[in-house]
Amino acid sequence: MASKGVILSEMRPTGRLHLGHQSVLNNWVRLQEEYNCYFGVADWHALTTGWEEAKDIRANTIEMVADWLANGLDPEKCALFRQSAVQEHAELHLLLSMVTPLSWLERVPTYKDQIQKLGELGKDINSYGFLGYPLLMAADILVYKANAVPVGEDQTPHVELTREVARRFNHLFKPVFPEPQAIINKDVAVLPGVDGAKMSKSYHNYISMGAGTEEIKKHVNLMVTDPARIRKTDPGNPDVCVVHKFHRIYNSSILEGIETECRAGQIGCVACKKQLTGALEENLGPIRERREQVLAKKGYVEEILQAGEAKARQATVKTLEEVRAAIFG
Ligand code: TRP
Ligand code: SF4
Repeated sequence: MASKGVILSEMRPTGRLHLGHQSVLNNWVRLQEEYNCYFGVADWHALTTGWEEAKDIRANTIEMVADWLANGLDPEKCALFRQSAVQEHAELHLLLSMVTPLSWLERVPTYKDQIQKLGELGKDINSYGFLGYPLLMAADILVYKANAVPVGEDQTPHVELTREVARRFNHLFKPVFPEPQAIINKDVAVLPGVDGAKMSKSYHNYISMGAGTEEIKKHVNLMVTDPARIRKTDPGNPDVCVVHKFHRIYNSSILEGIETECRAGQIGCVACKKQLTGALEENLGPIRERREQVLAKKGYVEEILQAGEAKARQATVKTLEEVRAAIFG
């Protein structure tokens, strides 16, 4: 029997997730059915941009993994782990650093972008770890010999770097690593924040995954609609309306009706928002409940992570044996 392909992806532990992350998680949930999946908490990566939030990483990890489980990741089907608990990631990172030219890291687009962005925030980050963060990501991927990596568009240069590093290692020593493919998630950009900008924690325009009924209502009320529409009978333009973008995802069965009625001035924005609130409640209610159940069981998430880490180690220990043999004979 041909063995199943290996998938690896990770997220930085930012704490509670929001609806912008749902398409990423839905993708992971689909992949867990068909592949041998490893999904990690990139807690070392969280340190590459500074120490300020380090003390929150433990709590944020638990919150984030609770959201993973609430959205349908099944620990029986995939391994959920913390990067920092699987030491082979670090050993491989070190060994790969010996075959990676500095120029490859300096030309990664996020390197200069991020230095500039963080500089504007008054953060002067120029550590060795920050420069090396794409290589740490390469080690995350290669240590599982992953065939494919689901990521957002902004991460594709890192997957490209991973392929180059794999090729170079295979050429210098022995062919140990497959060259992984990126699986690009294009849906991420579809859902805006309530103000129409990108949904992001730092913009405070997000609906969190475990949002309660009141929180959902409040955020839907804040959503920006067609600004040219003054009276209910004015024809509206759903293409410029945030509410419509949410209906597209959470209420697709009645989307066409809403579009027609909006353009004809037959539905008011208040009624339209009410329909969306209902759809969001229907979708998020069960997720909220599961999230609460998961967090109510003390130590449950920790247990799942430890089991996942044991599974992860079975793969990584084997890879490192091969890597050491390839280098040292
Ligand atoms: N670098 C990714 C981010 O900042 C997170 C990440 C770390 C990752 N290791 C990974 C993603 C491995 C995919 C595969 O969002
Ligand atoms: Fe947006 Fe709905 Fe109002 Fe049309 S009716 S502008 S889709 S909120």
